[in-house]
Amino acid sequence: MIRSLAYLGVTTPAIEEWRSFGPEVLGLDMADGPDGGLRFKMDEAQWRLALHPGERDGVDYVGWSVVGEAEAREIAKKVAAAGIEVHDGDAGLCAERATTGLLWFEDPFGIRHELSWGRLIVQSSFRPGRAMSGFKTGEQGMGHVVFMVPDIKKADEFYSEVMGFKLSDLIIQGPLNARFYHINGRHHSLAVAEAPGVVGFQHLMLEVNSLDDVGMALDECERRGVPITMTLGRHVNDLMTSFYLESPSAFHIEYGYGGLQVDDLWEPKTFDRMSIWGHHRHQAPDAGPGLILKAEPPAGA
Ligand SMILES: [Fe+2]
Repeated sequence: MIRSLAYLGVTTPAIEEWRSFGPEVLGLDMADGPDGGLRFKMDEAQWRLALHPGERDGVDYVGWSVVGEAEAREIAKKVAAAGIEVHDGDAGLCAERATTGLLWFEDPFGIRHELSWGRLIVQSSFRPGRAMSGFKTGEQGMGHVVFMVPDIKKADEFYSEVMGFKLSDLIIQGPLNARFYHINGRHHSLAVAEAPGVVGFQHLMLEVNSLDDVGMALDECERRGVPITMTLGRHVNDLMTSFYLESPSAFHIEYGYGGLQVDDLWEPKTFDRMSIWGHHRHQAPDAGPGLILKAEPPAGA
């Protein structure tokens, strides 16, 4: 089984913007990458977020951690049985990801997933980019990712039955049809929202260790004019107190505190709204929906 969200790799033409945005707004610990990009640390892992230089914004890979190769091969068997080719990461790729080994494949929507084990740990070396108490990671991993998918039933079949994610909740509100999945104590490490005709990366959630960390990020966004795509609010399902901002690479970032923990006895629920309070969209009416990775060709084309 997959244990946690380990890392995320993004290509972007906005490396220079990230040099100040990453450490000063988000509080990430920044290092230069060998490819002219950036590597951001959040904890003891060598890095969690990689920014690769490129001409267009894109999400290149989502890294998940497994305990070891045997566990990765078990999942790979199910992926292969679903008709998807699984590749072994060679030594160069493993070195690049700072991991002992990995297998990778593309899901039915073209999103690349990597199953990695034995990531390089640099104990006690995290230094936040600005004053803050730090990020909640550990067994709950880096945070969560939310994708827009054209077919939520197909997504549910793949992510739950093939990759082994467990359903936490559904939110169905007007046109919003979203599913949230857990793999550890974090309420969700993956969520998908149906968006006809597109595959996209809506947001990355980073959880911090205090509400003050959230408030200080909010102040920093307001001071710099970073678009706040949803105001401070509290989600009805994972009880996260958070706000959303637009990153320099089109996808959004949810920056939150106090997420709910789940366990094996968790029973999935259905909600008819996203938030108990807040999370209004009025502050950045021009913000995009997130990072569109692929628009489907029109029917019949
Ligand atoms: Fe979220």
